[in-house]
Amino acid sequence: MAPHTEQLTRPTAVRLRGLTRSFEGRTVLDGLDLDIPAGQFVALLGHSGSGKSTLLRAVAGLDHEVAGSGRLTAPERVSVVFQDSRLLPWRRVLDNVLLGTGGEERGRAALAEVGLAGRERAWPGELSGGEAQRAALARSLVREPELLLADEPFGALDALTRIKMHALLRELWERHRPSVLLVTHDVDEAIVLADRVLVLDAGRVGLDLAIDRPHPRSYRDPLLSEYRERLLAALGVTEVH
Ligand SMILES: Nc1ncnc2c1ncn2[C@@H]1O[C@H](COP(=O)(O)OP(=O)(O)OP(=O)(O)O)[C@@H](O)[C@H]1O
Ligand SMILES: [Mg+2]
Repeated sequence: MAPHTEQLTRPTAVRLRGLTRSFEGRTVLDGLDLDIPAGQFVALLGHSGSGKSTLLRAVAGLDHEVAGSGRLTAPERVSVVFQDSRLLPWRRVLDNVLLGTGGEERGRAALAEVGLAGRERAWPGELSGGEAQRAALARSLVREPELLLADEPFGALDALTRIKMHALLRELWERHRPSVLLVTHDVDEAIVLADRVLVLDAGRVGLDLAIDRPHPRSYRDPLLSEYRERLLAALGVTEVH
């Protein structure tokens, strides 16, 4: 199939219509609409408290109270990665990756993909923060998700490890092609990784920006700074030169 035909016929992975969520009378998501085509890599920015995690939890099916507020369609196989790896400390790395799935070979392969071959029998407490997040990525991969949801997965890592994780995540995405919704505070992370960046504002998608630059992208690409400025403006931040 020619690439443009594939684009046109690409099914929708996530469809949200009129999604609304309030806590104690305070509306956080306010009739939000969003479509994510299958295989698209989307980043979600927004101020602290704007409802990014609330949206992600709703899409993950973790928020039962959001049901009925609007219409929500998401794929069956969804994996979620959080800021904290959430590995079970009493299980070895390979057992954490395999939790609830069979197929030890698949677990080993997933660990090899994230650069943790040979660490299968390590305890989570023996891993560095970056290694633990890689194990968490392996755990999500082993389920072959159609949709990968990530809530600031690199937020607790140092800058150098974060850059390495960006390259790894993009590489894994290129190999497996799930749809991705990546929540982040980091505008540069969003524009380097994603093909589309959303800004959540007042309970809806305030800005929906396609990032039309080839991969791998350089953090220093001057053409990316135009996107950066638009996103910062949408976030109400003016850069000091
Ligand atoms: N279970 C809850 N009970 C009450 N209020 C909640 C609950 N979950 C979220 N909220 C409120 O909803 C708002 C949005 O929270 P959310 O965690 O989605 O923000 P966020 O955009 O992810 O912020 P951050 O960038 O700081 O992680 C916040 O004001 C928060 O206090
Ligand atoms: Mg959050």
